[in-house]
Amino acid sequence: MEPDLPFEPYRIKVVERIHRVPRAEREQHLREAEYNIFRIPSAAIYIDLLTDSGTAAMSDRQWAAMVTGDEAYAQSRSWDEFERTIRHLTGYRHVIPCHQGRAAENLLCGVLLEERHVVPNNTHFDTTRANVEFRGAVALDCVCDEGLDPDSDAPFKGNLSVAKLEAAFARYGDRIPFVMMTITNNSGGGQPVSLANVRETAAVCHAHGVPLFLDCARFAENAWFIKRRERGQADRTIEAIAQEFFRHADGCLMSAKKDALVNIGGFIALTDDKLAERLAERLIVQEGFPTYGGLAGRDLAAVAEGLREVLDEEYLTYRIGQVARLGERLAAHGVPFLKPAGGHAIYLDARAILPHVPPRRFPGVSFTAALYLEAGIRACEIGSLMFEHVDPDSGALVSPAMELVRLAVPRRVYTHTQLDYVADACARVRDLGDRLQGLEIVWQPPALRHFLCRLRPIGGGRLIAS
Ligand code: F0G
Repeated sequence: MEPDLPFEPYRIKVVERIHRVPRAEREQHLREAEYNIFRIPSAAIYIDLLTDSGTAAMSDRQWAAMVTGDEAYAQSRSWDEFERTIRHLTGYRHVIPCHQGRAAENLLCGVLLEERHVVPNNTHFDTTRANVEFRGAVALDCVCDEGLDPDSDAPFKGNLSVAKLEAAFARYGDRIPFVMMTITNNSGGGQPVSLANVRETAAVCHAHGVPLFLDCARFAENAWFIKRRERGQADRTIEAIAQEFFRHADGCLMSAKKDALVNIGGFIALTDDKLAERLAERLIVQEGFPTYGGLAGRDLAAVAEGLREVLDEEYLTYRIGQVARLGERLAAHGVPFLKPAGGHAIYLDARAILPHVPPRRFPGVSFTAALYLEAGIRACEIGSLMFEHVDPDSGALVSPAMELVRLAVPRRVYTHTQLDYVADACARVRDLGDRLQGLEIVWQPPALRHFLCRLRPIGGGRLIAS
């Protein structure tokens, strides 16, 4: 039998020097960053798992495409290739290029949303939520119940609950202008959505005369999970599976910084002629001419190449296998995380690791800060700091269902050895137990506070008590 390591289907042609700065320096950086991991200089980070977004290593073919990219303002050859690739993949006629995912969200929400509107999604990503709420609309999360249970190992925990969606239509009726599904469900643990769930959700939307948009940043990883886990899908190609879920929906928004294996880019693709026209009008004001949309010709060319490369099943098996392997090593150490492992990340269960730190003292932020201090690793809290919000019914401030720390794995960047180091460091931080203190906010901006806020250990004391 062949051994089952997630083998890399590439060899390394260019390397980048990284360095682990001494602990005393890390302590200084953490203090200067006021415990906000987004403020730490990248040069002071050894392994950066803050995000899998825009952090991929591009291939030799992508770099070649960068060099031969066509920089014409209008109708460039690179635009043709970008448009053709996306049309073929999604089956949608209209392609609107954007510089990244949130620009696509801003365009779509700007055109379709009004105050009091309600947008159901399995789980809104933070920028999606912010774009919806910025218009005075309500971002309604309708993920299935298994998706809220960190210990359930259900195969499709990203699924949208059709019952919750039906209830939303019964309650809000024509206040719902469109529905979204995030695949894979990033804020719900990188968990996949099944083909059957996309089909059923689309049927409910269409019965109410409302379009379904896929937030498809990680569509290829989602398709790989469908191939492995959904009955009747094992013999299909990744591309055929993806084409089917796009066919059920009416359009998609993509941050190309994930599964298009590039450092910048995004798009909207859709079938509706009138809506496409309105989006293109706005695009010219906000992003650029409709054949480049805030991107250079070379960026368009790299996206087109990346969208083809990501469909390679051998790549996806290695990619998702590498994340799963990180999960296995954490499990061997008994570090609790959301099961099963996500496609692009492991989500540590900070509430279980630090039961003595209540949500309003940010257990996920505390773990993240200690992980940097102990090992020079940058992770990201996905919990109360990011997602505490006002409940639309009661008006009360509520914490999200889970307090998580995301270890997002950049594509084709780190080795298995480096990820072993990460798993071992997480175990060491877990072993600090109740010596690890919670934090309090010293200053915060009005929206998306996790990016910019400043914190300190409770009462201005030490992060790790002696
Ligand atoms: N939708 C999803 C599901 C995302 O994960 C992201 C970004 C966006 C939209 C916004 O795209 O960054 O290109 O503007 N996620 C990154 C992350 C930032 O770290 O998960 P963007």
